[in-house]
Amino acid sequence: MDKKNYYVTTPIYYPSDNLHIGHTYCTVAADTVARFKRVMGYDVKFLTGTDEHGQKIQDVAEKKGLTPKQYLDGIVKNIKDLWETLEISYDYFIRTTDEKHEQIVQKIFQKLYDKGEIYKGTYEGHYCTPCESFWTESQLVDGKCPDCGREVKLAKEEAYFFKLSKYQDRLIKLYEENPEFLEPESRRNEMLNNFLKPGLEDLCVTRSSFDWGVKVPFDDKHVIYVWIDALSNYITSLGYLSENDEDYKKFWPANVHLVGKEIVRFHAIIWPALLMALDIELPKKIFGHGWILFENDKMSKSKGNVMYPEPLINLYGIDSLKYFLLREFSFGSDGSFSREKFLKRINSDLANDLGNLVSRTVAMVDKYNGGIIPEPKLTGEYDESLKELALSTPSIVEKNMDAFNFSIALENIWRLISRTNKYIDETMPWVLAKDENQKDRLDTVLYNLCESLRIISVLIRPIMEKTSNSIWRQLGIDNGAGTDWLSLFKWEGLQTGTKVRKEAPLFPRLDVEKELVRLDKENKKFIELRYGKKAEEKPEKEEELKEEEYITIDDFDKIDLRIAEVIEAKKHPNADKLFVLQLSVGDEKRQVVSGIAKYYKPEDLVGKKLILVANLKPIKLRGIESHGMILAASKGKKLTLASVLEDIKSGAAVK
Ligand code: MSP
Repeated sequence: MDKKNYYVTTPIYYPSDNLHIGHTYCTVAADTVARFKRVMGYDVKFLTGTDEHGQKIQDVAEKKGLTPKQYLDGIVKNIKDLWETLEISYDYFIRTTDEKHEQIVQKIFQKLYDKGEIYKGTYEGHYCTPCESFWTESQLVDGKCPDCGREVKLAKEEAYFFKLSKYQDRLIKLYEENPEFLEPESRRNEMLNNFLKPGLEDLCVTRSSFDWGVKVPFDDKHVIYVWIDALSNYITSLGYLSENDEDYKKFWPANVHLVGKEIVRFHAIIWPALLMALDIELPKKIFGHGWILFENDKMSKSKGNVMYPEPLINLYGIDSLKYFLLREFSFGSDGSFSREKFLKRINSDLANDLGNLVSRTVAMVDKYNGGIIPEPKLTGEYDESLKELALSTPSIVEKNMDAFNFSIALENIWRLISRTNKYIDETMPWVLAKDENQKDRLDTVLYNLCESLRIISVLIRPIMEKTSNSIWRQLGIDNGAGTDWLSLFKWEGLQTGTKVRKEAPLFPRLDVEKELVRLDKENKKFIELRYGKKAEEKPEKEEELKEEEYITIDDFDKIDLRIAEVIEAKKHPNADKLFVLQLSVGDEKRQVVSGIAKYYKPEDLVGKKLILVANLKPIKLRGIESHGMILAASKGKKLTLASVLEDIKSGAAVK
């Protein structure tokens, strides 16, 4: 019988020497999916790689006095090393600088051009270099990139455009008819309401102000927009439009593209539109996962609040990290990493629940049956309820794994672990062992414990392979014999007569207070090793301003800050994040559009005295004129408007 195929991808990463646990999240999840599908008997293709073109890379290389290629060759290794450390089981690692990829990207571009899907025009707009994204005036929020809030640059040049607008209705229909195309639902609603329904504009798909990219095949003054180049990796790596396209025929359409929430727009709008234009089937699903924050804040090297995976792995092993990432957070939502939560979960779930179950079971087989797994002989009370739960858990796990509910899948496995621990307390093998007449019952209890562990060892395997291997060794399961997926639906799959082999505790119990100190030291040691002593002492140093980047008092004087009183606040008719504020500034009336709708109610603002940047050039934000900007402080998810300590008349200057 032909095997079923499964194709799972992660985003291709921008090469970096600063990969933190947030970066590992998607790849750990994709690895879990790939391993799970392999256990289920699928022929799996798991793709990951690096996204190596674009202005950002060119700029960084230039700053370091290197060519992009020199810079990349040094840095791509970091990501490969990290995946090796995490034992990520990818089948193919693509680099967008691979010759094969570049050639196919050119063919794709040519094909789109020949089909009339790409045309030449003039580009005028705002470019956000860190996001490699173009924005129209109306899409900017307070004149800044709506995705990352950073400054954008005005750009005007001859360029090629992809007819993205043409696909608006087809995309809306796609979302309506196949809601499973984009999950979770919140991301689908975001795409529909913020992008598709307000209307799509054609997309500028070339750049000519820098040259680090794939050249347009028929016009080499232009390079192809990095997102077109990057998204294509999902099919170039399968050999689309090449002589060797067997993998493309076999694995496309992808079963799932796993991506972080901030790049859903590219995957759920631009990518399907491109595929429609190429007459290619669409991927079956895009899943936009949440972000991992560090103690509720965005991780950033300059803030010194980055948790790296290596120190966690050095001290507590890969399995603990993978387990924690997938158990603690719900995949579709943001979650906050805390060292304490991590250590506490190791203690409760891994040391207490799983670790204890394994060591108690093996120790009892050792003590009460000379280390030999006995034949089950006499069923009794509690057996049925253990068996029932054990045999029903695999399909629940399967359902949740298929829905990317890793946390719930693990919760269900742990329910079985707890049930099995409880079975020990209920059947009390130490009491049975005292009575010769109870030997048959004791044998059955010991066997049932080992059998339940066999099932558990297979269920945790896609996430915790080392732990699963240890359980196999301890139960005398040779090379995984009798542990395929179907074997989980039958009780008594474990061989009897084999010898158990006790190993050191899988997860020794931790003293959380001491470990917090140890982990902190290990993290510092890692930072020092990777970035040098200075980075460890004061990571902010890197971002300290250079002399020429300071502003003078004259520069500051150019900014006219005024006290402004809110007369009226209303929701912006075309943007959920924006308010339209009517302000009085002394005798003058002002209208300002501000991105604070998530944080305040209109009625809370009326009468408030705020600080206004009064001499900012007026712009239109989503069609409404905004003259000035109000100041606010923000950190993480919190935002608060700036004001003064005591009441003062509106129009007063702030200096
Ligand atoms: N190169 C693009 C992807 C192109 S795919 C055709 C890119 N690269 S990235 O390196 O910036 O990000 C790679 C992935 O890491 C993204 O999915 C991003 O969401 C994810 N993460 C980066 N920081 C993260 C967290 N703190 N938490 C979870 N994932 C985060 O975007």
